[in-house]
Amino acid sequence: MLGRDFTSILDLSADELSMLLELALGMKRDGCSPILAGQTLAMVFEKPSLRTRTSFDMAMHRLGGRALYLSPREVQMGEREPVKDVARVLARMVQGIAARTYLHSTVTELAEYADVPVVNALSDDEHPCQALADLLTLRERFGNLRGLRLAYIGDGNNVARSLAYASVLTGVELVVATPAGYELPDTTIEVARALAGGGSVTQVRDPYEAVRNATAVYADVWASMGQEAEAAQRAEDFVGYQIDTALLSAAPSDALVMHDLPAHRGEEISDEAIESANSVVFEQAENRMHAQQAVLASILGGVAR
Ligand code: CP
Ligand code: NVA
Repeated sequence: MLGRDFTSILDLSADELSMLLELALGMKRDGCSPILAGQTLAMVFEKPSLRTRTSFDMAMHRLGGRALYLSPREVQMGEREPVKDVARVLARMVQGIAARTYLHSTVTELAEYADVPVVNALSDDEHPCQALADLLTLRERFGNLRGLRLAYIGDGNNVARSLAYASVLTGVELVVATPAGYELPDTTIEVARALAGGGSVTQVRDPYEAVRNATAVYADVWASMGQEAEAAQRAEDFVGYQIDTALLSAAPSDALVMHDLPAHRGEEISDEAIESANSVVFEQAENRMHAQQAVLASILGGVAR
């Protein structure tokens, strides 16, 4: 993957995705060597972050490089100057760019104009690094991914889309349960189903149907960053889509509880569910760092398994 952008899970083949997960597992087990010494990753963020910013920063540090955080207030992409100028300026000084944006087209425009690799650190459309960490978490627990059943409950958003693509590529059976009007678009489902890898994506209305036989049950926020004005309406529309004890009682008793965080307890997940013995939310959070180490080693350091 040396020198390539990672703006979407669709940038990866099934083999490349498995390779990245194996590389991440190996780096988590054995540690990293300083293969990115002298390299800098610029992190241009239009939205807040705890996990993504910290995990990119620590991943670069552990690989011997450094990360440079550029806040929205400073850069003001598209306002203070055009996105394409930000891309070309940064590419003259750093070896890679991680971008967290509203519009997905901002990430792809950065990738088009920067002649250094650009990694999507979350856009309105996708959160590919999160999906890698989530699959890494499942891979660690179960030894392989093929045939695992993941039930995603809530909004057909950026996290759901990346999970849909990544699930098909890795042989996971994903069931997405959303209220009416919040489904993943048909085009996303068609693109996902056309991928190689042997997994599947199904959309259903009933969360209880989704969690039946699930290996893991996954929640994300009902209102994503940028949708704050819709939060009250969404809180009404998503009633019945909380991962709570009642819903979990319809799933196998050993089903894992997953959330990409930050979590809004009492909305998409109950406090009891997220604090339960089956919850792996902090493993997911830690695995952001290990997954991104693999991504960065691969695209900036040319490391393949
Ligand atoms: N899960 C995730 O991306 O968290 P942050 O928004 O804190 O980076
Ligand atoms: N769907 C959420 C994910 C946060 C990590 C958002 O975009 O805000």
